Amino acid sequence: MSGTPSRWVKVWDAPTRLFHWSLVLLVAGAYATAELGLIDWHFRVGYAILALLLFRLAWGFLGSDTARFARFLASPLEALRHLAHFTRRGPDTEIGHNAAGGWMVLVMLALLLFQAGSGLFSNDEVMAEGPLAKFVGSAWSDRISGWHVFNFNLILALVGLHVLAVLAYAAVKRHDLVRPMVTGMKRLPAGLPAPRMASAALAAGLFLAAAAIAWVIATRL
Ligand code: HEM
Ligand code: HEM
Repeated sequence: MSGTPSRWVKVWDAPTRLFHWSLVLLVAGAYATAELGLIDWHFRVGYAILALLLFRLAWGFLGSDTARFARFLASPLEALRHLAHFTRRGPDTEIGHNAAGGWMVLVMLALLLFQAGSGLFSNDEVMAEGPLAKFVGSAWSDRISGWHVFNFNLILALVGLHVLAVLAYAAVKRHDLVRPMVTGMKRLPAGLPAPRMASAALAAGLFLAAAAIAWVIATRL
């Protein structure tokens, strides 16, 4: 890297970073509240996660360049090629998610969405049931509760892989991915174009709309 001219570039906007670190805290919270039997709080945390995910879906179409699905979803072949060159050292030239990481992000978002969605139809075999359970009847609610429990194991496995991958980038390639997810800034070779950042007001509006949808599901159905 030393010989290559480089500059600091903003790669992650604040909404995406806030989304990520809130998600980390809330997923831990969902697990803890479920394990501790704090079902009311589990529901609240679940609705917050649902709002975050709905926001992230919209941000994937309307947000900053690096948050857009169309920008970071490369062909599966491209993803394999990226992994094949994993041990190659060199400066970090990724402006957003890399070709393999993009797919992992998509799968992670899909599993989390399934988790929050299935929770809405689940019951705890005692008193509590999600707000949509009444629409499907108890046999289906029990079945979906089983999926809700099982799917969380998939999420845990993927999160484990995700954190291992981040550590591997640091250990093998000496690329620090965590700092950009915290500060937004990354040192990239000069000459690489800076991504376009969407407005914070748009993010706030989309988040309010997402939160309103989660609120309606939680309290009005
Ligand atoms: C419950 C735990 C976690 C979940 C569900 C999760 C989920 C995600 C998701 C969905 C993204 C994509 C961000 C976006 O485009 O919106 C992401 C990216 C990222 N996460 Fe996590 N994450 C978790 C824990 C962590 C932890 C503990 C770390 C720190 C070691 C971490 C570091 C990162 C980094 C550095 C990126 C950006 C990767 C890149 O440069 O392409 N994550 N994570
Ligand atoms: C992404 C968000 C969510 C996560 C990560 C999550 C995670 C979990 C976990 C780990 C369990 C315990 C599984 C076990 O017994 O081992 C659980 C149980 C449960 N969750 Fe969620 N949950 C989420 C969203 C929701 C939502 C939105 C609702 C309802 C509004 C909900 C309702 C329930 C119920 C009723 C149970 C008890 C199911 C049973 O024990 O059979 N969850 N959840």
